[in-house]
Amino acid sequence: MKKTRLDIDRVAFIGRTYDEYMRMFALEDSLLRQCPVLDCPAGAASFAAEAGRHGSDVVACDILYDLPPDELIRKGERDIKLIHDKVGEVSHLYVWNYYKNREDLISMRKKALALFAEDLKGGIAQGRYVKASLPRLPFADDTFSLVLSGHFLFLYGAMLDLDFHKACLTELMRVSSGEVRIFPLSELDLMPYRHLDEILLFLDSEGVDTEIVKVPFEFQRGANRMMKLRRRSTR
Ligand SMILES: C[S@@+](CC[C@H](N)C(=O)[O-])C[C@H]1O[C@@H](n2cnc3c(N)ncnc32)[C@H](O)[C@@H]1O
Repeated sequence: MKKTRLDIDRVAFIGRTYDEYMRMFALEDSLLRQCPVLDCPAGAASFAAEAGRHGSDVVACDILYDLPPDELIRKGERDIKLIHDKVGEVSHLYVWNYYKNREDLISMRKKALALFAEDLKGGIAQGRYVKASLPRLPFADDTFSLVLSGHFLFLYGAMLDLDFHKACLTELMRVSSGEVRIFPLSELDLMPYRHLDEILLFLDSEGVDTEIVKVPFEFQRGANRMMKLRRRSTR
């Protein structure tokens, strides 16, 4: 019988490129220039590294950023291998359009890891890569004009409970003076996040307006929507 979900039992330390971020969060250069931007959690994404070259100021944070850089990069290589093997078991769950095939997907992950690795040591020294363990972030209120959170919340809904999601969203909103964007809204089995309705009610009760927006990116079948969050009134 065919498997119906990507069969991984931990949050992978992998990341995507600038081009993938632009698509999955429906970003425009003008929005990114209203710096600074937080990428949380960033994993082995090259968004912060590449955004710098596009004139944007992006801080990346992740629970693993206190590991020595060489160890982090080895972990990234191991997790790319894991994803390569696991995606091979369930390739029918994906739309092979942006990535032509599994080799193409893996070469994008390797490209992101290489650019991340190149930027990491200098970026740590400049305070652009920060260890942070959600649901607590080491940043003052309203620090970032835009906060992006990809492939963590909602996606790992089977491992991370509803209270954790609520606490993370509250914290991401706290450090944002503008918008928070989350992608995707589906879990690893392609089903919509199991507590989506409760999350929308919770955010509304906290004075947060939400909008669900279609984006020009779909890899997991049907996962082509992101959530935008904005504070309704000033505190
Ligand atoms: C799949 S990566 C996301 C990378 C990137 N945002 C993207 O879309 O390509 C998920 C990351 O979440 C990190 N993570 C797991 N638990 C965390 C926590 N409690 N706080 C911060 N980061 C966490 C993992 O270390 C991993 O790097």
